[in-house]
Amino acid sequence: MGWFEERGGLDGTVAVITGGAGGLGQAIVTDLAANGVRTAVLDIDGEAIEQLRARLAEDGHDALLIQGDVRDPDTLSGLFTAVDERWGRLDTLVNVVGGTFRASFTDTSPNAWNALLRINLLHVFQACSLAVPRMRAGGRGGSIVNITTIEAHRAAPGYAVYSAAKAAVEQFSRTLAVEVAPDNIRINNVAPDFVPTPNMDKMAGGNGHSGDRAMYDPEGVAVAIPMARPGQVTDISNCVVFLASRLSTYLTGTTLHPDGGTYASAGWFNWPGDGWANHAPLHLIRGER
Ligand SMILES: NC(=O)c1ccc[n+]([C@@H]2O[C@H](COP(=O)([O-])OP(=O)(O)OC[C@H]3O[C@@H](n4cnc5c(N)ncnc54)[C@H](O)[C@@H]3O)[C@@H](O)[C@H]2O)c1
Repeated sequence: MGWFEERGGLDGTVAVITGGAGGLGQAIVTDLAANGVRTAVLDIDGEAIEQLRARLAEDGHDALLIQGDVRDPDTLSGLFTAVDERWGRLDTLVNVVGGTFRASFTDTSPNAWNALLRINLLHVFQACSLAVPRMRAGGRGGSIVNITTIEAHRAAPGYAVYSAAKAAVEQFSRTLAVEVAPDNIRINNVAPDFVPTPNMDKMAGGNGHSGDRAMYDPEGVAVAIPMARPGQVTDISNCVVFLASRLSTYLTGTTLHPDGGTYASAGWFNWPGDGWANHAPLHLIRGER
């Protein structure tokens, strides 16, 4: 066994991953499984679930995949019961499900706010309430990882309620982390910025949807992201593997920012030929050069 495997202690542990068949979720499930973690996935996308099932089986991984809606309390608690029956332990929970659409706040309705809170926040409460007693009962501690977003850490015009819901996940995690710290249960967030996935692709103007695809262009992305490239799904799954592992045993109530530096740059842009500024150069605005 190598240094990482021994220090990480992931082999033989059990993880629940909601939204595990999506863009980031699949990478998270695959990388946890590659480290010997037995994975239980809940996802609403039946086709994606079947594809993931086939891939995990082909690689000989022990996994439980259920198609269902994380917003339905019975479905979510059924997943945890299935984990109890199959493996009798729970070490890690990764809450991946989330999503949004672009609209000015004043153009949105209470129905839309409710939908955004349900898909980004409320299931996280329920999943944590199901996970913590199981982790306590196991007596080995545990790790809960919530996938949030850079938009939980800055203003996000056009995404007010999404941003608020993800910020609520961050604050909830911080408090819960303190409440369950004596049980050695850790809660942390991973806050990506731009990682092309089918979902993100739709929001960025792929598949016939409206929007600017500047972030898919090497010159465009270099303006906004200090490391001058989009995120890759493994940039996120690497963080989750670390947080699930014993390498992070003293880390709780905090957030990792795998974003190529955008959280740090916070509104500063690297304009071609002009360099860093926290505003667009006038000649670019006026099309003078
Ligand atoms: N991709 C990015 O650039 C990015 C950036 C910041 C934050 N995020 C966050 O990362 C998470 C995953 O994003 P992604 O890009 O992989 O999106 P995605 O749409 O590919 O993944 C979400 C997964 O959740 C599943 N899902 C949706 N609603 C569900 C429900 N009600 N019940 C069960 N499963 C459901 C989807 O089928 C999908 O497989 C989200 O929480 C998103 O807010 C992504």
